[in-house]
Amino acid sequence: MEPGRANGGWRSATPRDSHSLDQLCSEGFGLSEGQSFFDDFPIWDIRRPIDGRLIEVMDGPKGSQILSQLGSVRRTSLTEPDPLTLVGAVVTRSSVQGRGLARSGLDHLLRKTEAQGARSWLLWTGDDRLYRSMGFKAFGSQWRTTITKISGNPPSGQQRVRRGWSPDFTAFLAKRTRGLQMSEAESGMLRNLKNVDWWSLRSPGEQLIAVAGIGKGIDLGGILHDWHGSEAALRTLFVEIARELPETTLLYGSPLFAEYPWLKQLKPEFEDPLCYWRGEPPSRPDELWFWGCDSC
Ligand SMILES: CC(C)(COP(=O)(O)OP(=O)(O)OC[C@H]1O[C@@H](n2cnc3c(N)ncnc32)[C@H](O)[C@@H]1OP(=O)(O)O)[C@@H](O)C(=O)NCCC(=O)NCCS
Repeated sequence: MEPGRANGGWRSATPRDSHSLDQLCSEGFGLSEGQSFFDDFPIWDIRRPIDGRLIEVMDGPKGSQILSQLGSVRRTSLTEPDPLTLVGAVVTRSSVQGRGLARSGLDHLLRKTEAQGARSWLLWTGDDRLYRSMGFKAFGSQWRTTITKISGNPPSGQQRVRRGWSPDFTAFLAKRTRGLQMSEAESGMLRNLKNVDWWSLRSPGEQLIAVAGIGKGIDLGGILHDWHGSEAALRTLFVEIARELPETTLLYGSPLFAEYPWLKQLKPEFEDPLCYWRGEPPSRPDELWFWGCDSC
C-alpha cells in the first residue's frame, strides 16, 4: 500500500488548509466572488475550534493543494445520552466529480466515526441520491406556512420592533427547550452567521420578548427558521415581518407543540423530511427538532 493511502487517501484537515477549504466550499456551493461558505456555516470553518468535529480532505495530484473533496462530521446531542453525528459540507471539486470521491469520503467518515462510537448519522440535502445509496433515509417532517396566514396584534404602546443581531439573542434563544443541545462554542457562533435577517420585539423597558431569524444566505432563503418568545409577542413580530416580507414562510414541526401549543392551529402548506437519517433511530423521535441555525 502506498504511504498515506491507508484511509483511501483521506487525511484530517489542519488550519493551514483553511484557504483551500474556503475556496472549495464556496465554489462547490455556487457562491459569488467575495462570498464565503463559512459566513453561513461557521461551524465547518477549520480555524474555529469545535470539540468532536472532523474535517477530512483528499489532496489532488499536486499534493499541497486540496483539489478534490471535503467531508465533515460534528457531534452534538439532542438530550444525553443520544449523541448524534451531523454530516455536512460534502463537496467535490467540479473537475473531478463523478469519480466516486464523495462516496469514498462518506464511507471513510462513517467508518471512522463508527469506530469512535457513533451509531446514528444525519444530514440535510436537496438531492438524496448519494445519501440514500449509503443507507440514509428520510426521517420525520418539517412544515412551512406562509407568515401572512398568522394573525396577531400590532405592537402596543412602547413596544419596539428592531431588525439586526443583538448580543442578548444568544441567551434568549438558548432558553428554548427543543432542538439540539449545542456546546457554548457552537451557540456562540450564532453571531457569526453573517446573512441571517434577525428581527426582534422589545418591551417598553427594552426587555427582549421575541426573536425571529429569516434565511441564512445560501440556505433557508425566505424561511423564518429560528424564533422564541411568548405566543402574543411572536404573533406581533410575525405580523410586522409579514408587512415587510409577505413571502416569508414559518418553519415548524410537531416536536415544537409542547413548547408552542398555538402552532397546532396552523395549516402546513409545505412538508419536507426533517432530515436524512442513518443508523439507530433516536430513542425519543417525537422530541427531535433542529432549529435552522442548529445546522450552522
Ligand atoms: C454532491 C457531490 C459532493 C458528489 O460528489 P462526487 O464526488 O461527484 O460523487 P461520486 O462520484 O462519489 O458519486 C456518488 C453518487 O452521488 C450521486 N450524485 C451525483 N451528483 C450528485 C449531486 N449533485 N447531489 C447528490 N448526489 C449526487 C450519484 O448518484 C452518484 O451515484 P452513482 O455513482 O451510483 O451514480 C458533488 O456533486 C458536489 O460537490 N456538488 C456540489 C456541492 C453539493 O451539492 N454537496 C452536497 C450537499 S448535501
